[in-house]
Amino acid sequence: MIEVLSDYELDLMRKAGKLTAVILSELRKAAVPGASTKDLDDLAMQIIKEAGGSAPCLGYGEPPFPAAICTSINEVVVHGIPSRKVILKDGDIVTCDVVAELNGFMGDAARTFFVGNVKEETRLLVERTKEAFFKGLEKAQIGNRIGDVSHAVQECAEGYGYGVVRELTGHGIGRNMHEDPEVPNYGKAGRGPRIVKGMAFCIEPMITMGDRHVILGNDGWKVSAADGLPTAHYENTVIITENGPEMTTYEEGLNG
Ligand code: MF3
Ligand code: CO
Repeated sequence: MIEVLSDYELDLMRKAGKLTAVILSELRKAAVPGASTKDLDDLAMQIIKEAGGSAPCLGYGEPPFPAAICTSINEVVVHGIPSRKVILKDGDIVTCDVVAELNGFMGDAARTFFVGNVKEETRLLVERTKEAFFKGLEKAQIGNRIGDVSHAVQECAEGYGYGVVRELTGHGIGRNMHEDPEVPNYGKAGRGPRIVKGMAFCIEPMITMGDRHVILGNDGWKVSAADGLPTAHYENTVIITENGPEMTTYEEGLNG
């Protein structure tokens, strides 16, 4: 069932989204050569606690996810588990995916950060993944369908010759991290649930430089490109208001 949120609930979504945006802004500064991915996780947890929120990722799923955020390096698309032993090095890209709960509502957003000097082709992959997100966002209008968003994301990413990961999708969000509807990054325009005022969902292209196929790590979480080439992820929580789509987890000059 797709939840429709009241104006009051949408305001709470904005507050949780702002917290998520602040965390990503701090993580960007902390993602430097020599930092461990556990350092990033600790930083995110500290900001969430100071704000009086919680980290819904911690303990989520089976096996229980052991951290507050996901940190996914290079060919790892999503769900990398932060570790003291994983040290960022010059030339890496690291995706930080953050879910923050505040007052019962959630923000969920991801950015792929550059660690030191990153190859031009990898930079382009990251920038174009963001571009694909915004192509999808443009279609998140009242009266359109989810398939319009999906199709726009796919068309943009595949237009650059990249792969679109199909095993994972965007999702509705609100009181829970994952709600209906599914928001795939591929599909047909004009199909899927109708977009109405009060909906909240995450658009999150997961894009591969090479082949789109992925493999699951033996920790039960890590999802990597099968061909080992770099991948990027860009995600925001989007609420649908009478003025159109609004990103709760994006602020120009902060984490935009
Ligand atoms: N933030 C992810 C998403 O975009 C989910 C994180 S999985 C978890 O859906 F295990 F870390 F919770
Ligand atoms: Co996420």
